[in-house]
Amino acid sequence: MADSFKAIKVTPSVYWVGAIDWDIRNFHGYLTSRGSTYNAFLVVGEKVTLIDTVKAAFKDEMFSRIASVVDPQKIDYIISNHAEMDHSGCLPDTIAAVNPEKVFTSRMGQKALVEHFHMDASSLTPVDEGETVDLGGKKFTFVETKMCHWPDSMVSYLHDEAVLFSQDAFGMHLASHERFIDELDRGVTDYEAMKYYANILTPLGSFIEKTLTKVASLDLKIDVVAPDHGPLLRRGEDIGGVIEKYTKWAKQPPTDKVVVVYDSMWGSSQKMARAIEEGLSDGGAKVKMFPMHDSHRSDVITDLLEAGGFVVGSATMNNGILPSIADVMCYLKGLKPRNLVGGAFGSYGWSGEAPKILNATLEEMGVEIAAAPLRVMYVPDDKQISKSREFGLNIAKKMMAKL
Ligand SMILES: Cc1cc2nc3c(=O)[nH]c(=O)nc-3n(C[C@H](O)[C@H](O)[C@H](O)COP(=O)(O)O)c2cc1C
Ligand SMILES: [Fe+2]
Ligand SMILES: [Fe+2]
Repeated sequence: MADSFKAIKVTPSVYWVGAIDWDIRNFHGYLTSRGSTYNAFLVVGEKVTLIDTVKAAFKDEMFSRIASVVDPQKIDYIISNHAEMDHSGCLPDTIAAVNPEKVFTSRMGQKALVEHFHMDASSLTPVDEGETVDLGGKKFTFVETKMCHWPDSMVSYLHDEAVLFSQDAFGMHLASHERFIDELDRGVTDYEAMKYYANILTPLGSFIEKTLTKVASLDLKIDVVAPDHGPLLRRGEDIGGVIEKYTKWAKQPPTDKVVVVYDSMWGSSQKMARAIEEGLSDGGAKVKMFPMHDSHRSDVITDLLEAGGFVVGSATMNNGILPSIADVMCYLKGLKPRNLVGGAFGSYGWSGEAPKILNATLEEMGVEIAAAPLRVMYVPDDKQISKSREFGLNIAKKMMAKL
């Protein structure tokens, strides 16, 4: 029943008119185990402004929420902060339905929207970096946030109520009826915010750092952060907290946490992993083990975001690595986690390529190799178990030396 959806008032003139996706579990390879929301906002003054839209399939839900506040035909302006389709998917239909006076977007946003929807560029009004507009008594300033998340990304700041519409930044994939982070379980939101950053923003740390510095220099008073996914933030401690976390994640300083990723066919590489875990722990590292036969790549990168060590192991199969390890390494290589110390290991039968291949991948990823690849022919004996422990201990020592 599309018309049963209601808007939620988030400040005196801002309404949340987005959509809740309770069902989504896969966001281009990121396991969204708690679903997500696509947030769109209606700012109602003398004129009505819609900020962002939702994924195409959720258009009716958005329109139904808008209609609970105002006739959608009354929308005068649309601001498109980000061209990715989870936020722009129903923009062409929305423009056609409400015929707004203007659709504001960054210059790169104009180009990206034209390339996505093959719309007429003149139907979009590009805004300049730092430009301020008055939309029916509501003053907005636009700030480019290139590569946070895409080249077109920008944020919009509503002066009257000090609301920062931050598109993908400061968001999380979390479906909930509650609209504010302070209404939700802190452990859950902390984890989902970190998982979101890890899976979406890890490779963009240098852009995030620059953007955070630029936004700080504008000295904006921010009472509410309204991202495009998940809950909004309205308490100073939550807003300060997430900015502090983004500042840290953008740098990825070394820590005492180490992520061990492995898979095994007959249990030998697994035995090595267990001994390595003991060595790492003996060396003072905090170990997170990921047996990849049943772990998800997106949980691995979440832990790796705050790690100082990364150890990977695979049995050799058909002169290569196991498919589960190839999957996670392909994903992690693209996300470019930084400041890691590590090593590779694995059991083999005759040719034993896997640890060498993994060691080369670690090097390509910029991981500092703390111990030469550790290989065991078939099943490890006591001596080889001790060697595995030593391998872990050596990696932990190198990690600790960086703290
Ligand atoms: C399907 C299959 C293919 C394999 N291919 C290779 C190979 O190309 N080179 C090699 O050194 N060992 C190969 N092996 C042997 C395994 O690497 C060896 O049994 C190893 O001890 C398995 O470690 P795991 O107990 O951790 O699975 C293969 C084993 C299987 C079952
Ligand atoms: Fe995005
Ligand atoms: Fe998004």
